[in-house]
Amino acid sequence: MNERIHTLERRQLLRWIGRTAAGFAGWSLLGGCSEQGEAVEPAMDGPTAACAPTSSDVLGPYYRAGAPSRMTIAAATEPGERLRLEGVVVGEDCAPLSGVLLDVWQADKDGAYYEPNAGEPFRLRGKLATAGDGTWQLDTIRPGNYRLGAGSWRPAHIHFTVSHPSFRTLTTQIYFESDPFLPPNDGCTACDSDDPARIVRLKQGSSATRGELKIALARV
Ligand SMILES: [Fe+2]
Repeated sequence: MNERIHTLERRQLLRWIGRTAAGFAGWSLLGGCSEQGEAVEPAMDGPTAACAPTSSDVLGPYYRAGAPSRMTIAAATEPGERLRLEGVVVGEDCAPLSGVLLDVWQADKDGAYYEPNAGEPFRLRGKLATAGDGTWQLDTIRPGNYRLGAGSWRPAHIHFTVSHPSFRTLTTQIYFESDPFLPPNDGCTACDSDDPARIVRLKQGSSATRGELKIALARV
């Protein structure tokens, strides 16, 4: 990616999450999604509520260790709707966290997961680290719903583990607004797919559908 464009995108993201690192405290970042470029309004509630730790969700059966480090987990030939997720990881004090490791895995557009020993190793899996300003970016395709059983489906989702030595490791999933299988229709009764902070609002970009996400970690 062109470095200048990447830098500009990071600046846009920082505006979205509250201008600068110093500006994080006291700003409400509730909701985890926002129209791109839309300024976040100052909060009536305090910084603790603004950066409450992101809720966890089930690991599921498809996590595989050893995914390669990369921000693009869907090859150009991967079928499906291109999706770019941009986000930031912060602490409970809303300060951005650099060097946080995100391990990501997801199903393909038809809801199928792939094993590392399949034809393309670690297809739709990867690890990435947050930059110095806490931001990260993931280029992928929009995952599909998958069927759990007769009449039982899961909302489309992407799995994350989020880790840093000074913070509790978070295992969670993110979902997408307007999915017909969000609660009360999620077939996974053990899953926690109704937290609005993890339901991403999508908008159409020039080359990909785009979404934004904030993740907050709790200290060990
Ligand atoms: Fe899953």
